[in-house]
Amino acid sequence: MLEIEGLTRRFGAKTAVDAVSLSIPAGQMVGVIGRSGAGKSTLLRMINRLTDPSEGRILFEGQEVTALRGAALREWRRECAMVFQQFNLVPRLDVLTNVLVGRVRHVPLWRSLLRLWPEEDKAIALSALEQFDMGALAAQRAESLSGGQQQRVAICRALVQEPRLILADEPVASLDPRNSLLVMEALAEINRRYGITVLVNLHSLDLARNYCERLVGLAAGRLVFDGPPEALTDAVANELYGLEAAEAFGPAEAAPDPGRDRPAEALA
Ligand SMILES: Nc1ncnc2c1ncn2[C@@H]1O[C@H](COP(=O)(O)OP(=O)(O)OP(=O)(O)O)[C@@H](O)[C@H]1O
Ligand SMILES: [Mg+2]
Repeated sequence: MLEIEGLTRRFGAKTAVDAVSLSIPAGQMVGVIGRSGAGKSTLLRMINRLTDPSEGRILFEGQEVTALRGAALREWRRECAMVFQQFNLVPRLDVLTNVLVGRVRHVPLWRSLLRLWPEEDKAIALSALEQFDMGALAAQRAESLSGGQQQRVAICRALVQEPRLILADEPVASLDPRNSLLVMEALAEINRRYGITVLVNLHSLDLARNYCERLVGLAAGRLVFDGPPEALTDAVANELYGLEAAEAFGPAEAAPDPGRDRPAEALA
């Protein structure tokens, strides 16, 4: 169980995440939705402790994550693996070695530095690749793969870390629709097969609805929706994406205008 209590993060005068409280049982696949600047990345980064909260607490299985330091903090970072929009692979290293990087906290440091990976860890990494039909790519340089393949390698790297939680920040934002589906399938498969909790930030409401059992909607840092996709009616979705418009332009222009974010198209 991941418990988030009154979590707030301010950057100067800006409140990126505003008193968010959530309780996420183990094994859920949760989509975090909301428009650009809503606070999705900041929320995920606080869970991983890449960013410290200004206020509030995060607890995992009763342990206060926000109080962890040193070795305990490093152990927490192993337990919650991050997947990023830009994959963050080492381009010139082969695919298998990139996946093995996820094993660094499981093998002695000197072995990982010398890349003398134990056979057992190589087998774990290879089997993760095979699970997503990428065993044949193990010896190729990461930079030679397509974006969708690279992201699935990054997911394998996260998986071999043996995390309790996967935090994926816009994992499909740089991918075409077909690869987006493959990557979402891979995350859903890991969630189903291993019961690993997945929190995934998504711009696409469609993907979030199709793959996540629970949606968490943020607008201007505040939690404005928390429920199953069926409960997210078009009206709620409009409210979610239109809240910033209401604040920016006042109640008279509160209705969302689909063209507002696309001035270039509007002018064309
Ligand atoms: N390091 C920072 N310094 C200053 N302001 C920040 C910082 N990180 C985030 N912000 C601000 O906090 C708000 C929330 O940002 P965040 O990146 O969490 O949003 P997001 O929902 O992930 O947006 P996007 O969909 O564009 O990725 C934004 O207004 C952003 O400008
Ligand atoms: Mg973001």
